[in-house]
Amino acid sequence: MHKNIAVLAGDGIGPEIITEAIKVLEAVAKKYHHSFTYEHALMGAVAIDETGNPLPDKTLEICKSSDAILFGAIGDPKYDNDPNAKVRPEQGLLALRKAFNLFCNVRPVTIYDSLIDSSPLKRNRIEGVDLVIYRELTGGIYFGEKKEMNDKGVASDLCTYSKEEILSVAHLAFKAAGKRKNKLTLVDKANVLASSRLWRSVVTDLHSSEYKDVELDFLFVDNAAMQMVLNPAQFDVILTGNLFGDIISDEASVIGGSIGLLASASIGDRYAMFEPIHGSFPQGKGKGIANPTATILSAAMMLDHFDMVDEANAIRDAVQKTIDNNVGTPDIYPDKNSTTSDVGSYISDIISQ
Ligand code: IPM
Ligand code: MN
Repeated sequence: MHKNIAVLAGDGIGPEIITEAIKVLEAVAKKYHHSFTYEHALMGAVAIDETGNPLPDKTLEICKSSDAILFGAIGDPKYDNDPNAKVRPEQGLLALRKAFNLFCNVRPVTIYDSLIDSSPLKRNRIEGVDLVIYRELTGGIYFGEKKEMNDKGVASDLCTYSKEEILSVAHLAFKAAGKRKNKLTLVDKANVLASSRLWRSVVTDLHSSEYKDVELDFLFVDNAAMQMVLNPAQFDVILTGNLFGDIISDEASVIGGSIGLLASASIGDRYAMFEPIHGSFPQGKGKGIANPTATILSAAMMLDHFDMVDEANAIRDAVQKTIDNNVGTPDIYPDKNSTTSDVGSYISDIISQ
C-alpha cells in the first residue's frame, strides 16, 4: 500500500523524535512492502520565525492532500514567557485541529512491567492499569469567545458545548469501551458548570438508547484527578471535554513512568493526525535525550488508522521488547546512555529482523 504522510516536526525536540518515527516507519515499509512518502511542512514557532504565521497556508495544503498527519511537538519559551505576544505557536495546532475537524483525541495509557518501579506511584496502585482517554478536541473553553480587556484588568473565556459536539466524541468513546472492558466514565464538573450538565444528559440519553451494554459512571473532575493517582486501574474509557482532558491526560501520563511514552490520535470525519502528548521539551533540544517512543507509538496508531494492524502491532511489540531489554532514554533509564537515535534504531532493528 502507498500512503502519503504530512509531517509537521514543529518545535524543540520535534525534529529529533520525528526522525526516529520515520526511521521506524521505513523499517515497517520495507518489511511489509508498503511505501510511505513524507511531505514536511512548517507549524508552530518555526513557522512563525519563517513566515510570521504558526500555520501557513502551504502547511494546510500539504495536510489536505495527505492520507494522515504526523506531528512532533509545539511551543517555545520565548512565547510562553511573553503574555503580550500577538501570535503564539500553539495557535497553529489549535487552528489545525479546527480546520480538519479533529474532534476526538484518543490517549491510551498502558503500563510496561519493566517500568513499574520507575513510576512515582506504588506498584500495587498501578498494576493492571490500561485506560484510554477520549478528549473532545475542537470545542469547549479552548475555542469559546475570548475577551482580553487588559485596560480594565479583566479577561474571560467562554465554555460552550453543543449536543452535536458531545455526541460525535461520545459515540467513538462508547464504541471503544465496547471493544475493551466495557466501562465508560464521564468526567465533568456538572455540580457547577451548565456545559457539564449538558454533557451528562446527552451522554446518559445516548447510553440508554444505543450503548446499554456498556457500564456508565460519572466523576467530577476534581475527584477524577484524585482517583487517577489513588486507583487508576478502575478506569477503562474516560470521556471528557477539551480542558479536563488536557489536564487529566498529563496526570495519567506519569503513571507509566514517563510522559515520553504516551501517544495520541486526533480523529475527525475525514482527516486524522497523530501526535505524542508531550510538549516540545526545549531544554532537551539537540541533546539526544528526548524519548522518541511516544512519537513512534503515535506512528503505530497511524498505521492502525490505515488498517495496517499487523504493522502497528509490530511497532508496539518492538517498543515492548526495547523497554524490556532496558534500552531507553534517560527519562526511563537514567543509568543507561541510550540516545534518542539509539532508541529509534533499536526499535527499527527489531522490526527488520
Ligand atoms: C496537548 C497540548 C496542547 C493542548 C497545547 C500545546 C495547545 O497541551 O495536545 O495536550 O492544550 O491541547
Ligand atoms: Mn496537554
